Amino acid sequence: MESSYNSHVKRIIGGIVIAAVLGFLAKVVMTPESFGVYGHYRADAIIEEADREIRHWTNASCSSCHAHEANRHSKGNHKTISCEFCHGTYADHIADGKKVKTLPVMTGDEIKTLCLRCHNKAIEARPEDVIKTVAMPDHLKKQNVKETHTCNQCHYVHAPLEYINQAIKITGIKETI
Ligand code: HEC
Ligand code: HEC
Ligand code: HEC
Ligand code: HEC
Repeated sequence: MESSYNSHVKRIIGGIVIAAVLGFLAKVVMTPESFGVYGHYRADAIIEEADREIRHWTNASCSSCHAHEANRHSKGNHKTISCEFCHGTYADHIADGKKVKTLPVMTGDEIKTLCLRCHNKAIEARPEDVIKTVAMPDHLKKQNVKETHTCNQCHYVHAPLEYINQAIKITGIKETI
């Protein structure tokens, strides 16, 4: 007669065998086909990544259609700043070499917010020798203008000192900032 003392052992072993078989089946069913072709990853992932639509382009990609802004920008203090940082993504504007969508054009306080993201003296972690910062509204008070003035009323956004330097050259007057 079979001992009833080891029936629980059989049940446990049976359980482990069933779990192992189910686990193996699940692995076979769920492992993507191209897994392991080159290594411990899905080989198809390489093709999929390479096929993704390119969303960001260089400043040069804008210049063919916006030569005026691009020329001024490339000679001014903002030459290291990407057009896309301020305007949005190439792919949201151009497809197959043609304009397909409108990019937002900032005005008024939106421009102020944009400029102060980089030039706000309140951001103390930003040293003056890396980027020049201004305290608001002191910067406007020192220019003797109302606090409602927006940055682009004095600074040309694409070359922010261009007109100011021209004015200083012509008048010889230099504001204290
Ligand atoms: C520092 C932010 C900034 C950068 C960098 C920048 N722009 Fe602008 N741009 C603006 C703002 C703000 C305006 C709208 C206000 C203005 O023109 O004074 C504008 C206006 C424009 C306009 C005119 C839109 C209209 O219909 O009035 C074009 C075109 C343009 N930018 C293209 C470019 C290109 C091309 C580059 C890169 C070579 C570039 N911008 C880089 C901030 C920027
Ligand atoms: C194939 C040509 C072409 C390219 C490349 C191009 N644009 Fe434009 N863009 C246009 C046209 C056309 C307009 C509408 C007329 C105008 O304002 O000159 C326009 C308008 C704009 C405007 C005003 C808002 C709008 O959408 O009407 C901004 C800002 C702008 N472009 C920025 C850019 C930036 C930044 C790039 C590069 C990332 C870029 N453009 C690349 C053709 C182009
Ligand atoms: C992405 C960050 C960024 C944004 C946004 C930005 N700037 Fe700049 N700006 C810079 C950098 C970087 C320089 C070059 C380093 C420097 O001179 O401060 C610069 C230079 C300048 C200078 C010349 C400072 C000097 O004396 O050398 C002025 C003025 C200026 N920006 C004004 C503006 C205005 C106005 C706006 C908004 C339209 C703006 N910036 C938006 C990063 C930015
Ligand atoms: C009323 C005109 C006016 C307005 C509005 C204005 N600025 Fe200026 N800004 C100037 C003048 C003038 C200078 C001094 C240029 C010089 O001396 O070389 C200057 C210089 C700067 C500098 C360089 C500071 C330095 O230490 O060299 C930055 C950065 C700057 N402005 C950012 C801004 C930002 C951001 C705004 C909007 C929030 C703004 N400005 C609004 C006139 C103005």
